[in-house]
Amino acid sequence: MSDSGTVGTILYTQEDIWEKANELGKQITEDYKDKDLILIGTLRGAVMWMADMMRNIDLDMQIDFISASSYGGGTTSSGNVVIKMDVGLDVSGKDILIIEDIIDSGNTLKYLKDYFKNRNAASVKICTLLDKPSRRVADVYGDYIGFTVDDLFIVGYGLDYDQKYRNLPYITYLEA
Ligand code: IMP
Ligand code: MG
Repeated sequence: MSDSGTVGTILYTQEDIWEKANELGKQITEDYKDKDLILIGTLRGAVMWMADMMRNIDLDMQIDFISASSYGGGTTSSGNVVIKMDVGLDVSGKDILIIEDIIDSGNTLKYLKDYFKNRNAASVKICTLLDKPSRRVADVYGDYIGFTVDDLFIVGYGLDYDQKYRNLPYITYLEA
């Protein structure tokens, strides 16, 4: 990790995150007990959080993944979202819970919510590990939120900078 920037202090450990997944998972288990749930994880950032949430929801559900990205590089997103890998399951009539790593501008999730609604999902909600409300542009919010963070560039626990740091088993941030 030497030449790719310096990381700050640990914000949340994997124990903190697992505990939160357990708490939200119980709530989701209750909220979706009479529904037809598909958990849809967003690649690649949400992989660790998806694995945590899957194991903490005690329902007969399906799981899938989608990969979406907004044009443009660097640390900011544009409003132009493209689907790079679509879900394999038919979402029509299903209750979709998107498992996301972080809501920043909200552009990606706004697009994904509309995308599933247009494919006749019965409902579309969001479970995000992190929420960065200070940077919100699109009118979108998390229904289940792990932790709210300040305007920092977060890495670790699935989140990357230039495809690095995803493997860190905790949440930290890049020093400016
Ligand atoms: P959006 O700006 O809400 O559309 O966020 C799009 C995506 O950008 C998120 O799903 C993340 O994958 C990525 N992203 C946003 N903020 C951060 C961050 O602080 N660290 C790492 N990735 C981020
Ligand atoms: Mg993402």
